[in-house]
Amino acid sequence: MRQLLNDLVGAGRKTSEIPMALSSSSDGNGAHTGPESPSVTPQPGERLVCHLAADAHLVTRSPNHEVGREKFLILRHRLSQIRRARQLKTLLVTSSIPQEGKTLVAVNLAATLALNSSRVLLIDADLRESSVHRILGLPALSGLAECLEGRTGLTTAVRRLDHLGISYIPAGRPTTSPVNLFQSRIMRDVLDEVASNFDWVIVDSPPLNPVADSHCLASVTDAVLLVARSGITPRPALLEALVALRGIFVAGMVFNAVTNAHASSYDSYYYGQGQTGATADAPMSAA
Ligand SMILES: Nc1ncnc2c1ncn2[C@@H]1O[C@H](COP(=O)(O)OP(=O)(O)OP(=O)(O)O)[C@@H](O)[C@H]1O
Ligand SMILES: [Mg+2]
Repeated sequence: MRQLLNDLVGAGRKTSEIPMALSSSSDGNGAHTGPESPSVTPQPGERLVCHLAADAHLVTRSPNHEVGREKFLILRHRLSQIRRARQLKTLLVTSSIPQEGKTLVAVNLAATLALNSSRVLLIDADLRESSVHRILGLPALSGLAECLEGRTGLTTAVRRLDHLGISYIPAGRPTTSPVNLFQSRIMRDVLDEVASNFDWVIVDSPPLNPVADSHCLASVTDAVLLVARSGITPRPALLEALVALRGIFVAGMVFNAVTNAHASSYDSYYYGQGQTGATADAPMSAA
């Protein structure tokens, strides 16, 4: 398995483009199709081509998001500093409540880490309401859920996104009880396996406060990156999340969607209205 994973991590194979079209059918091959899904389903383990919306929130690739791009470069730098001092390979991106920008941060962070040719894997571990594929302009494909259920191999679950220079494990079939899967030995085995094949493993996840999923995931990843969103995250919710993370290494916080009013004077100078941005705070530990 390790050799096969290595093949997937490395570049070199020809990119095959996945035609995108609307369909509501299911292919019986683990891909979940719906109104926004394509009629042609990528084969397992295949290289995928992202079809990004014109105004996609991918700051690393958009000329309209200079500030956001810089913020993610700062975040990458901070994380690289931390990993000089301690083990930091698998990073859980989570937040206290829904809609704070976890998925957006996870995707942009993975793409930013890949800019300096690190071997980067992005895992969609939001098995309830996965959305990484939407940002990437991809269909919902089989992936982590099937892998944890023993219905597909890890090598099959890992896709390659040449456009972003990252590898990607989609969430797979939606499940209402992901905790059972995350608590299984297989989850640890999956993370151990990918950690030995990639430089960074970024794990997108559901919010901490309403469900137990990210609590389980935090205990099997090296560190947590906590996202809070300006104007959205209530202080008590953030405190509740920090209390829940007691004993877990919190590598840092991202303050997402900081507006002019909340940004520093330096940021304000550069911030345009409607910019996608993130501010990386100093690393911290939940006491
Ligand atoms: N900085 C930002 N600028 C503009 N839009 C943003 C920003 N951050 C997030 N959004 C938008 O807010 C919505 C929620 O973002 P996202 O899906 O990343 O949050 P989430 O925390 O992963 O949500 P969930 O808890 O549902 O998984 C999306 O429509 C996203 O495009
Ligand atoms: Mg999300």
